[in-house]
Amino acid sequence: MDSFIIDGGTRLRGTLRIAGSKNASLPVMAAALLAGGKSVIQDIPNLQDIRSQIELLKLLGCRVERLPDGKLEIEVIDQTNSHAPYDVVRKMRASICVLGPLLAKRGEGRVSMPGGCAIGDRPVDIHLRGLRALGANIELDGGDIIARATKLHGAEVFLGGNFGSTVLGTANVMSAATLAEGKTVIECAACEPEIVDLANYLNAMGAKITGQGTPRVMVEGVAELSGTTHRIIPDRIEAGTFMVAAAISNGELNLENVRIDHLMAAVDKLRSIGVIVEKVGTGVNVASARRLEAAIITTQPYPGFPTDLQAQFMALLAVANGNSIVSEKIFPDRFMHVAELTRLGARMHREGATVIIEGEQQLIGAPVMASDLRASAALVLAGLAARGTTTINRVYHIDRGYEKIEERLNSLGAKIKRVDQSEGE
Ligand code: EPZ
Repeated sequence: MDSFIIDGGTRLRGTLRIAGSKNASLPVMAAALLAGGKSVIQDIPNLQDIRSQIELLKLLGCRVERLPDGKLEIEVIDQTNSHAPYDVVRKMRASICVLGPLLAKRGEGRVSMPGGCAIGDRPVDIHLRGLRALGANIELDGGDIIARATKLHGAEVFLGGNFGSTVLGTANVMSAATLAEGKTVIECAACEPEIVDLANYLNAMGAKITGQGTPRVMVEGVAELSGTTHRIIPDRIEAGTFMVAAAISNGELNLENVRIDHLMAAVDKLRSIGVIVEKVGTGVNVASARRLEAAIITTQPYPGFPTDLQAQFMALLAVANGNSIVSEKIFPDRFMHVAELTRLGARMHREGATVIIEGEQQLIGAPVMASDLRASAALVLAGLAARGTTTINRVYHIDRGYEKIEERLNSLGAKIKRVDQSEGE
């Protein structure tokens, strides 16, 4: 199992291109199951989660080929197997987004029920409620969700839950509704840019979706969809992570391929903390103003502050001046990084879904353990700011969402070594 050894304290400088969005790619790839003919999807990042999704699509009868320049060609050639087994789903929870497309196109989808994960309970009840509203019969058998329907029909579907809407649930229901008979109105739909990207891909395939990006999405069912070309949006969470890298290292980065309009809540916080963020062409320039101020952050559904940047900002606030408060309103247990950041000298006090951070700490390198994707990113960021050496174990989590992060940070001046520490694990 690989570890990172980080020598902290260097200032990052230079230019970096932000990759295509992981969380937009996964549902778009799943939606290719709905189409006849082939789709060519551009700017798919080369990540572990994407490789897992490719394996799953192959299992479900797709020919999937990586073309040069980050393009992926997908074509359904065999519709006999519609089962996403536990072995695949346990590796990547986002496999659930094949359920809607399989149900709509093949009349049946069988997907192993995803379990919880390091960021907390992650139920799929709202996905299933939405698919049932479209006429699916859903049962559980041997840990699998089995969804069946001879023909889906349009309906009014409400996708709200205790923590707002659901991103992948919206993806599932919206994808399924494209081939339903009649009109579907999804109320309390997720407004995330990844949902807009998926809707744009489906429309390019012949679907009739309007209202994407708002809480009311309308889908007029069509008889069939056909493959198309589509470019994935830039990864807003990767962009936000590198913005924090510039700030926490007292550096200056020019990030290319950034949709700043997808990141306004994070940019607003960075500016209030004292980080200079300027739009330059199709990217941003990010520079630390040296003195970083405390902040109050509450995660919310889009366009609010993203939960996927909560851990990274917490690392930043540990070195800012004054006391900060971070509240998590999407995944109330998503705080595995707190204990590890504390090992680096951060002063954090958790009360339920809120953490109080006493800032102005000089972080000091130590061995720490990565627990999930964004927690790992936070530890890397803290390691960049820490004095001395930080060793992060189990960095496979970070490879799920950031391509060669150590090489890219090193190209900007960081000192990170990847070592294989499998012996003794
Ligand atoms: C997506 O997960 C992202 N994953 C997550 O990114 C992200 O943290 C999350 O949205 C929130 O923005 C992908 O896009 C692949 P949700 P998703 O359903 O869709 C509750 C990362 O680090 N809920 O919007 O699975 C749920 O427990 C990952 O890249 C129900 O109660 O999240 C949570 O509290 C991690 N019932 C809230 O809704 C349901 O049926 C939002 O979850 C579904 C969700």
